[in-house]
Formats: sequence, C-alpha cells, structure tokens
Amino acid sequence: MSDVKNLAPATLTLDGKTHELPVVEGTERERGVDISGLLRDAGAVTLDPGYGNTGSCLSDITYIDGNKGILRYRGYPIEELAEKCYFVEVAYLLIKGNLPDRAELERWRGLLTEHSMIHEDMRNFFRGFPERAHPMAILSAMVVSLSTFYPELLGEGPEAVEITAARLISKVRTIAAYSCKKAIGEPYVYPRHGLRYCANFLHMMFDSPCADYQPDPVVVKALEKFLILHADHEQNCSTSTVRLVGSSEANLYASISAGVCALWGKLHGGANQAVIEMLEQIHATGGDVEMVVRRAKDKDDPYRLFGFGHRVYKTYDPRARIAKQMSQDVMGRLGIHDPLLDIALQLEKIALEDDYFVSRNLYPNVDFYTGITLRAMGIPTKMYPVMFAIGRLPGWIAQYLEMRNDPARKIGRPRQIYVGPTERHLPPIDEREPAAAAT
Ligand code: CMC
Repeated sequence: MSDVKNLAPATLTLDGKTHELPVVEGTERERGVDISGLLRDAGAVTLDPGYGNTGSCLSDITYIDGNKGILRYRGYPIEELAEKCYFVEVAYLLIKGNLPDRAELERWRGLLTEHSMIHEDMRNFFRGFPERAHPMAILSAMVVSLSTFYPELLGEGPEAVEITAARLISKVRTIAAYSCKKAIGEPYVYPRHGLRYCANFLHMMFDSPCADYQPDPVVVKALEKFLILHADHEQNCSTSTVRLVGSSEANLYASISAGVCALWGKLHGGANQAVIEMLEQIHATGGDVEMVVRRAKDKDDPYRLFGFGHRVYKTYDPRARIAKQMSQDVMGRLGIHDPLLDIALQLEKIALEDDYFVSRNLYPNVDFYTGITLRAMGIPTKMYPVMFAIGRLPGWIAQYLEMRNDPARKIGRPRQIYVGPTERHLPPIDEREPAAAAT
C-alpha cells in the first residue's frame, strides 16, 4: 500500500472557515479527499447514502474503471484471467497477491483436496432444514457453524492463513453441493480426492447412487470461467459487509457468513436467480419482452430489469461480455437450444436502444447472462446465488485479510445526521397518544 501519493490538499469552507483536506492518489490515478479529520476540525460529517462517493479503504486487490469497463485482479485483466487460468489459481492470486508457480499451485491444490470433507456431524444440520429452505440460508448458517467445528480459526502466520483459506474455499463447495442435494431430496455425495476443484463440485452435485456422473470438460471449463468472473469486485455490498463485520474482530467464518447474507439480495448476487425467473415469466406469458421494459421504466412500478445497471459500471460490464459469449459457446458445444437465451438477447437489444436505459447508462451486468449458462449446466435456479458466493469467496477472504493487516484499521462505524424528535419527556401512560396516531 506504499504506492499511495499525497497531492495538494483540497479546501472546504464551512461557516466562513476554510479547512484543508488531504488528497491522496492511487496507482491508477483515482483521487480521494481524506475527510477523516473533518468532524474534529469542522464539526461536520459527510453525508453519502449508499456510499456511492465514499472510499472506505486503500486496497491493492481489485481495480475497476466503471467508465471504460475495466476490471483487473491484482493488475491482471479479467479477460486474460478468465481465458487462461483455473479458478484456484485466481483464488491464490487474490489471497496471496501473486500468481502461484507450478510448485505453489500443486501445494495449494493439495490443501484444497485435503480439506474438502465437512465434519460428519454437520450433516445433522442439513437434515434439520426444511426441503424448501433457500440454499443461501443454509450456506450462511453452515459457514458460521464451521467456526464451532474448527475453532482454531485463523491462526497467526502465512501458513495458518493459507490453511484456513483453503479449508473455507474447499468446504464451501461441499456445503453448497450438499445444500442442493438436500433441496432435491437426494443422498449427499462425498468429495473425491482424484478430482480437481470444479470437477469435484460437479461430481458432488450430479453423481448419485444410481447414476455415475462424468463431468463434461465443456461444463468444467464454463464453471472455471464463471467462478473467476465472480472472484472479486472491490468494495461491493457483500465485501463491505465482510470488512465491516471483521472490523469488530469477528472471526473469518462469521464475517463470511454475513457476506453470504448480504449477497443474497436481489439487487446484488440474488440478481442471477431473479434474471432467470424474469426470463421464465416472459417465456411463460408468450414472450412479451416489451411489457417487461415498460414495467421497468414505469416510475410507479417498483419492478426493475434484473441483470441491468450497476453502481460502478456506466458502460457494458466486462464480465457480462464474457458471460454472454460463454453462454453462447456452452450451449453451442452442448447442443442445447434455450429459448431464454433468445429472450435475453432480444431484451438486451431493446433496452440498449431505449432512451430510458441509454440516458441512465444501464447496461447488462454480470448476472444477465450467467444464469443461462448455469441452466445449461443443469444447476437449479435457487442455487445461482450460491454459485456466485463460491466464486466470490476468495475475494472476501483477501479483503478480510487486507483489512485485518491494515495498520490504519479501525472498527467500521459510520455516522448519521439525526432527524428525529428533539428532547421530550415521558407522559404518564393514560395521557399518551395511541402510537399509530402519533406516526
Ligand atoms: N431497471 C430499471 N431502472 C433501473 C435499473 C434497472 N435494472 N437500474 C437502475 N435503474 C434506474 C433507477 O430507477 C434510477 O432512475 P432515476 O434516476 O430515474 O431515479 C437510475 O436508473 C439510477 O439507479 P439507482 O438505483 O440509483 O442506481 P444504483 O447505483 O443505486 O443501483 C443497481 C445499482 C445494480 C442496484 C441497480 O442498477 C439495480 O437495481 N439493478 C437490477 C438488479 C441487478 O441486476 N443487480 C446486480 C448488480 S451486478 C452484480 C453484483 O454486483 O451483485
């Protein structure tokens, strides 16, 4: 983090007094006005609902240029990583800062294989959930319960960190597959040591006592790519949650579990499920794409076009471009024709020519096309946010570690501007207004 540059300070005038605010610049020339002394010096806080203009940390993990559609992990463009890497290599890159050499990759793979089983007693938890349970609820509960089975948690030193990271990345995949088996009422399938990360996941998802499953290399490659596309995305809602929870010195498992819950929402990682449900609905009602666009534009209708828009990207999300190509390639190579892909392409075309979407810079985001690929792979719709979570896990771990190792770290604690009643005094109970009338 030594690459931060100090620029000439900015000035702010409040109540006729001028305050100097330090300005920093990162390696990609992003500038930030440091307001950390503002309350002390000027008696005011900044107000930024949704944190759209708030930088919460210095970070050397992921860089996004939302105007140019650039995404890089540790400096490497997402396009190169998605094309040339295995997901586990990218996980290593994010967590350790550099790509592994051959020996390091083998050691890392060995750790992932070694830690793939979950404690047999954890299966009791799966039994306790109702069959309709959303797999994100199961995932979040299981991740935090790992802290009870592996209380040694995050030990000190690089080796302990590596083992905890590997344990979590490996076990999350097993938990995810078990949650899917639970939902469809099939027996759990144990991980197999001879299989690599993605093939092993597919094996646990699709093997069964009555039918052997051989992972198709096309599907394995698509899964690698899918997970790489999701591996990190700087200070998004779930990552900020992981950092915020971890800033109180909550352990890694607890922080990641909170991140899973944050990811679940439809505006974040739940959008991939929402996109497919939207496309299915359009298909079921005769393919009226215009109707969906009309509803999304209607100010009196809370409906949104899922898979469109992004807080940071004001152009085409680079992940969406890769995901779109991936969905077409996978379906071509598997010989599948999915009418939902036709609907998605049509929807995209209409939206990209419509002034509402153009004037607001609303383009397809990563979630618009990924669900179509997951569908072609045979993954149930409710599992899509879980797939996102498996991919995002290395990023969450890297961001948690960066936060914990930052000498400038403080507990995360935003301020507010209070707008409630000024001081008032308790009336006796018989003189109180009914609560409903008072609001
Ligand atoms: N459909 C219709 N209108 C939209 C959409 C959409 N998908 N997204 C934004 N808008 C409109 C919004 O109504 C607002 O219009 P106006 O200025 O007239 O009030 C304007 O565009 C700006 O929207 P915003 O809600 O202020 O933008 P935001 O940066 O707070 O929200 C977003 C970003 C991703 C939550 C939002 O675009 C959205 O809800 N998209 C649909 C859900 C989705 O696909 N989420 C996945 C995000 S990418 C993966 C991830 O990181 O999780």
